[in-house]
Amino acid sequence: MDRKALFYPCGLILGTSYLATTQHASFAFDRPLHTFAVVLLLAGLAIVAYEACTAKTRRPALIARYVAIPLSDGNGRSSDEILAPPQHPRVPTSLGVKALAGLVTALMFTICVRAAIYYRVMKHIECTGPSALAFLPLVLAVHHSSRYSRSSSWNSDPPPTAPLEYLVHFAFHGTTRYILPAFLLSISSFLTTWKTSALQSTYICPLSNSAASTIPKLQFLGFLFDCTVALVLYNLIDDGVAQTVDNAVELSDRATNNVLIGLTFTASSLVLAVAGIAIYAALPEHRQWILAAPPEYLQGLLRLSLMIPLTTLCFLVTVRMYGVMGAVFILAFSAAYIGVLRALGTGVSYSFPPKPTVGLILCLILLTIALILSFVVDTNSENRVRPKMHVRLGRPQMVVFVFVLLVFSFGVAAYRYQPPFPGHPVTTLIRLANEQHYSWSSQARRSKTLAEAVRNYQSRYGRDPPPSFDKWYEYATGRNSMVIDDFDNVEEDLAPFASLSPVELRQRTLEILADANGLGGISIRQGKAAVLGEVPGTHRWMVDGTIQLIEKFVSYLPDMDFAINLNDECRVAPPYAVLLHTYTKGALEFEKRSSNPALNFSTDRASTWPNIGNIPGKRSHFENHSLQPTFQTYGSVACAPDSLARREREWNTRSLCTACAAPHSMGIFVANWTLSAYPCHQPDLANLHGLHLSPAALHGTHDLVPVFSQSRAPGYVDIRFPSPWNYMGKSSYQFDEKNPDPSFVKKENTLFWRGATSEGVSAGSGAWKGMLRQRLVHLLNNNTGTQPILLPKGKDRSKIDYVIENTATIKRLLETKVDARFVGQIVRCGGVDCTDQTREFGLANAVDFKQHWRYRFLFDADGAGFSGRFIPFLQSNSVVFKAALFREWYEGRLFAWKHFVPVDLRLHDLFSLLAYFGGYGVDRRDKRMMEPREKEAEDIARAGKVWTEKVLRKEDMEIYMFRLLLEWGRLTDDRREEVGFRLEGRDNG
Ligand SMILES: *[C@@H]1O[C@H](CO)[C@@H](O)[C@H](O)[C@H]1NC(C)=O
Ligand SMILES: *[C@@H]1O[C@H](CO)[C@@H](O)[C@H](O)[C@H]1NC(C)=O
Repeated sequence: MDRKALFYPCGLILGTSYLATTQHASFAFDRPLHTFAVVLLLAGLAIVAYEACTAKTRRPALIARYVAIPLSDGNGRSSDEILAPPQHPRVPTSLGVKALAGLVTALMFTICVRAAIYYRVMKHIECTGPSALAFLPLVLAVHHSSRYSRSSSWNSDPPPTAPLEYLVHFAFHGTTRYILPAFLLSISSFLTTWKTSALQSTYICPLSNSAASTIPKLQFLGFLFDCTVALVLYNLIDDGVAQTVDNAVELSDRATNNVLIGLTFTASSLVLAVAGIAIYAALPEHRQWILAAPPEYLQGLLRLSLMIPLTTLCFLVTVRMYGVMGAVFILAFSAAYIGVLRALGTGVSYSFPPKPTVGLILCLILLTIALILSFVVDTNSENRVRPKMHVRLGRPQMVVFVFVLLVFSFGVAAYRYQPPFPGHPVTTLIRLANEQHYSWSSQARRSKTLAEAVRNYQSRYGRDPPPSFDKWYEYATGRNSMVIDDFDNVEEDLAPFASLSPVELRQRTLEILADANGLGGISIRQGKAAVLGEVPGTHRWMVDGTIQLIEKFVSYLPDMDFAINLNDECRVAPPYAVLLHTYTKGALEFEKRSSNPALNFSTDRASTWPNIGNIPGKRSHFENHSLQPTFQTYGSVACAPDSLARREREWNTRSLCTACAAPHSMGIFVANWTLSAYPCHQPDLANLHGLHLSPAALHGTHDLVPVFSQSRAPGYVDIRFPSPWNYMGKSSYQFDEKNPDPSFVKKENTLFWRGATSEGVSAGSGAWKGMLRQRLVHLLNNNTGTQPILLPKGKDRSKIDYVIENTATIKRLLETKVDARFVGQIVRCGGVDCTDQTREFGLANAVDFKQHWRYRFLFDADGAGFSGRFIPFLQSNSVVFKAALFREWYEGRLFAWKHFVPVDLRLHDLFSLLAYFGGYGVDRRDKRMMEPREKEAEDIARAGKVWTEKVLRKEDMEIYMFRLLLEWGRLTDDRREEVGFRLEGRDNG
């Protein structure tokens, strides 16, 4: 063999590394069983095809080239040297045809059962423990020694009897020589996985059903099956190599064992396919599921089905060169090194995730020792063909190698070293929020006169304000609005629609209204607002509330219609390409307008709006995506194709995706509240919110249609408007003698939440396990795992660091008590999910809304849409903790850390927050201890209350809506480039 032969081991290394680095985020695991079967089939076919192609060409080469000399004897031998045919060992397990057939059948059976176990484990991946797979090389090494111990003809000397010599023989020369390196290898790669998977997500592994106890057992059973399959394959492959050597001449006449393996793989996958088709026939409701294959899945599958068969082939060829154990080592070492390096390379932001750097470097060193040992002990198989290019290190190379690794390790350690950060990140974040809030509020109301307001509008938005701007200004200043200039939300929400012509906007508005798909219309004619189209009685209040909201200023509005979303869920999600186009086009439109003379709204507007009963060229826009996962189809379609959300699937719901949270975090805490709900950098959100997992009513569209919604998740482009729920005070801030609102310090030191399971529908698929509200209640009541928490450390507690602690211990030591429960009954569920949830959470009695004011800390988790209680919570003397995906019209007016405490949607920061504000370590003997920051908490409670009463009043909702509708009026005006407002007698241009 020549240098080209090295291609295969290199291929093996590269293939393994690729698989080890990418599988955690592959879409292929959306349908694990499909993927398993396809990959198995292709791997099987590839092996058969390869053997068939190379059978002829390989034979002559083989006869001339085999040697079986222990590497320890081979120092300095020229690589061209070809030795006489060796005394090849008699492998005791060479099998007859019948036995072989039995073995193959058993193998097929085992593979199919393994597939079933695999499927089950993947389905409940949140309940898995650390995997034992790392120990497979050790199992194989032990097997190897027992297999050859009876026939160690390659080493004819009898084992020495002196203890020391025996040990040396055991470790380096005997058939047992693989055991020590395999042991070190297994231990270090197991420790690496164990250390890196220590951070658990809050995704629920229910205690109420059997998954929590059965899955780890199944996992272990799966490992036993893996071992069985690996051992059988080992024997077959090893025999195959032996036969090749023994009976090279007959090779072409008989199927080699590799072909047998290939055929077994193929047959197993066919058995799986037949089983799949049986299910397909028996359960028609699975039909859709079996056949549906989104493009992301196909891509993921394609990658795996290229890489796994190729890697398998490389493995089989490598076996011929280095023996089975040699090939196994190459594979296992590549995977283990990649694992450690990946863990070491994971970005650390403000020391989070907590870095087991020392542990990992120890693993790396252990691994390197194992690697060196495996070089020393001679990777020669007892019966292999030796390549010319043997990997063999002399002493100098070895020293250099070890040196390089050491330098590398210290380099990584230095690179990852971060000085302990000064003070608590929350303190920094609060200070930053104060600054941001100050500069925001000063720019939000810079104008003191109408003329200034017009000028500021022009310079901010690059065009004249809409007609009737003077009326709006008067309205706003008459109500003491704190915000005059900054209406960036209106701008942002309408921008995509500026790319559509006025005719198109009007047409689309009426089209969606005529569809009567969860939308209510409002029509304004001659200064009067009326309901347009049919609105179901249950949702009538929303439309009526909106009419109330605009009543006071409707006389200034031009004739127009608009459609409001009656569902909680937002619904307009144009794909990235469409948005990119619209934003560029929309911006151009806006610029074009500024140079033209300003006119009032057109006079004949009423006639330009189509009649709802008779719309020419009507199209239907909405599709029902309720009760389905929608992150890939809706939630993230606005993201660029190269964003994480489009490229990766975080299928391992058990582990916390720290990389997903890092862009918006400072350490564990939310540093950028706006960014924290953006889907594009957070593929794991797909499994962490009801909207993405299984919404109750997502009648969505990818078309750009103007829908006014009360809130939207980032990624959707619904136009936000102030919620009639808040405007009509459906849950409002009230207190009385029986339920007073005491000052912050007089309240109970408790985090309080009550609510319903209404975030999404869990109709039997277990979607509830990922929903925010469910995760919150579970984390605070039932979580038995571990969570990170930021605590002081050292004698003087001057430094702080993250520790991973049992949830039960954390709850015991937190001075703030937690009280979060579902009330009434479990709603929006179906099948087993109802009973599972009832058993998992237990239910509490409903409480009077006013009772909330008894507690210092109120949690606000959004549900199917915006949170109706956030504003009343802010108005109270309590501190509001808020975790939310949805964003409302007032986004940007309130500042996280100034007016409320932001909580990451993953909830992994919740305990650290409670420790910071409420104190930690009630047990005085406990070494760790955190003083409660009562002043900071009280400041947030007060600032939230004061500011809410300045910028989130009913008047502020009116002012916002007034301005939004003026802009909407201009956007739908046929002469919108010329329409605008200018002060008379002055040229503002
Ligand atoms: C938060 O993220 C948004 C979006 O990336 C960005 O525009 C904004 O400047 C960030 N805010 C802060 C305070 O960094
Ligand atoms: C979870 O916690 C709640 C409240 O403490 C309790 O009623 C329920 O039984 C717990 N669930 C399980 C499965 O232990």
